[in-house]
Amino acid sequence: MPAMRVEGLTKHYGEPPHQVRALAGVDLQIDQGEFVAIVGRSGSGKTTMLDCVGLLMRPTAGRVLLDGVDTGTLNERERAELRSHRIGFIFQEFNLLPTMTAMDNILLPLRYSGGDRKAARTRAEALLNEVGLADRSHHHPTELSGGEQQRIAIARSLINQPTLVLGDEPMGEVDTETASMLLGLMRRINGESQVSFLIVTHDLELASRTDRIIRLRDGHLIDDERLAPEAVTWVTQAGVRR
Ligand SMILES: Nc1ncnc2c1ncn2[C@@H]1O[C@H](COP(=O)(O)OP(=O)(O)O)[C@@H](O)[C@H]1O
Ligand SMILES: [Mg+2]
Repeated sequence: MPAMRVEGLTKHYGEPPHQVRALAGVDLQIDQGEFVAIVGRSGSGKTTMLDCVGLLMRPTAGRVLLDGVDTGTLNERERAELRSHRIGFIFQEFNLLPTMTAMDNILLPLRYSGGDRKAARTRAEALLNEVGLADRSHHHPTELSGGEQQRIAIARSLINQPTLVLGDEPMGEVDTETASMLLGLMRRINGESQVSFLIVTHDLELASRTDRIIRLRDGHLIDDERLAPEAVTWVTQAGVRR
């Protein structure tokens, strides 16, 4: 089953004659475990698309299906519920709460969902370990570098065990080397867990390390390129060399 599917996704902002057509009927399906990059210049509709897929915004027309559920039929409470169980978010500016420790930031999405607190802490500790920051659990965001803050934000995006993680330029605020490390980290988590990722990036070199590149222009999906898995490419090259 696809993790996510949009059909005829359309979003208009404002009213005529000042209406902006941010999305003009986008069709896209992302399978479970796929790691997809969205590229396109500023204003092409990337953020609008993520906001619709993340159920932060209702489209003007078209459908958003998550794990087969047509989200347009849900009320706001049901949408919030689905969002908090199925979707993880990573933002460009990290969006960690400055007054909270790394651990508490990771636990934040669970604040309203009740559940077993001890199990949640155990999971948060495992995620801290996964992102290589087990020893920074009690540190506040100001005590962490940009790359470290984003690693905490990646851990936070996974605490609810989502099926899909959405990232709006999550590598946009860090240097090239850190960006590469963050993508590698997300790729590793994606490979281990089968969580799907849909990540906006300006960086074509980073995009080339994903499974698939979607290109938006003026609200239209103009290109959908599936890339050969890195490992397979390497084996092929090795074979050629031999
Ligand atoms: N809240 C809004 N009100 C009016 N226009 C908007 C709003 N948000 C985005 N837009 C417009 O919609 C288009 C797509 O924006 P956006 O999705 O943010 O693009 P991107 O993320 O690719 O830069 C742009 O023309 C932008 O100016
Ligand atoms: Mg944007």
